[in-house]
Amino acid sequence: MMAIRGLKIAALLALHEFKPLARLLEPLRAKPELYASTVWDEQYRSGKWKALGSASEAAHNLVVAAYAASGQERVLDVGCGSGGLVPALQRFGYNRYLGIDLSAVAVAAAASHARENTAFRVVDGDKLDAADTYDSIVFNETLYYFTDPVETLRRYQRLLAPGGRFVVSMADVGSLRDALLKHRIWRGLEADYRVADETIVYRRGAVAWTIRVLAPRHP
Ligand SMILES: C[S@@+](CC[C@H](N)C(=O)[O-])C[C@H]1O[C@@H](n2cnc3c(N)ncnc32)[C@H](O)[C@@H]1O
Repeated sequence: MMAIRGLKIAALLALHEFKPLARLLEPLRAKPELYASTVWDEQYRSGKWKALGSASEAAHNLVVAAYAASGQERVLDVGCGSGGLVPALQRFGYNRYLGIDLSAVAVAAAASHARENTAFRVVDGDKLDAADTYDSIVFNETLYYFTDPVETLRRYQRLLAPGGRFVVSMADVGSLRDALLKHRIWRGLEADYRVADETIVYRRGAVAWTIRVLAPRHP
């Protein structure tokens, strides 16, 4: 079954690369999932995202954290949710951390991770107005919730300190539509960012997280 699904996805991705067909299929194209803050709040209240800080997410969170921090980094976590990445980041050490999220309910839950150098704010990541710069900017399972993911990264680039990197994780959750959306985002990012490193984490049950370190081609 897995092999057939893999072949189907590979065939669709190949067709997706065929420009005339891609243009024809444009109206059917998978779009990013956009939800209002109230929807996120309700999902966090209902426990839908409870698993985010759990053992089943631990392996990919550790990879994201290891890419983002090694002692002295300033880390911005865009769409931090309830702060599930912070315990992993603390293993590697960082200078300071800011987590932002659209959901006030998620940010309230993240408060237990707050420290002198670790803060959380309720902010729409599409409207962040910040002057600080960061060594690592993390989009941990969040980029595909933005209206224009490629443009979002471009806008965040001004917040990258010299030599800074994006750390982007996007999971393959098993549907063709989802695979196409994420493929399109990775392809869109290739023009502006070099893949400095990549790890793929598999979990039984057909979830695979692709985690990439992206370095701006034009800093
Ligand atoms: C799948 S959850 C991932 C949470 C967290 N990164 C983790 O892995 O534990 C996606 C998160 O993105 C947040 N989000 C979605 N759109 C956002 C936006 N425009 N600005 C900030 N956060 C956003 C949601 O509120 C949610 O907490």
